[in-house]
Amino acid sequence: VEETLVLIKPDGVARSLTGEILRRIEAKGYQLVDIRLVEAELELLAQHYAEHQGKPFYEPLLEFMQSGPIVAVRVAGQRVIEGFRSLAGATDPTTAAPGTIRGDLGRDWGLKVQQNLVHGSDSPESAARELALWFA
Ligand code: GTP
Ligand code: MG
Repeated sequence: VEETLVLIKPDGVARSLTGEILRRIEAKGYQLVDIRLVEAELELLAQHYAEHQGKPFYEPLLEFMQSGPIVAVRVAGQRVIEGFRSLAGATDPTTAAPGTIRGDLGRDWGLKVQQNLVHGSDSPESAARELALWFA
């Protein structure tokens, strides 16, 4: 069965939304396979976000991701990669559709990075690569 990496980013953990986000994943019918609380090292984040290196939001993104603990979750289910991205909603929390995690729980805070609560792998290749990084 398919697996994806979900990260509850530091804003989600700091705002005590971990339970609410996990609840939505479980209510959708996906299975939590493994979970850990991580204070991510720069090296791990640089590998995770390698594709964004050089973009204007790259440095603020890495700084944000080191601002507090992250909850990393291995989630399983049929078409869970696509399904979780649908649950998460669009990247920009201001315009993410209501009903989604970002649309219901996120907003713009006037910072250099979009604090959008969650990450979900975007393809089977990304999921395999990211799960190996976060659940080594
Ligand atoms: P998708 O755009 O649907 O792929 O969502 P994503 O969460 O996978 O975003 P992506 O991989 O494109 O970018 C990684 C993270 O960088 C996002 O979740 C945001 O936190 C941040 N980010 C992405 N694009 C922007 C941007 O244009 N401006 C700012 N300030 N932050 C961004
Ligand atoms: Mg992405």
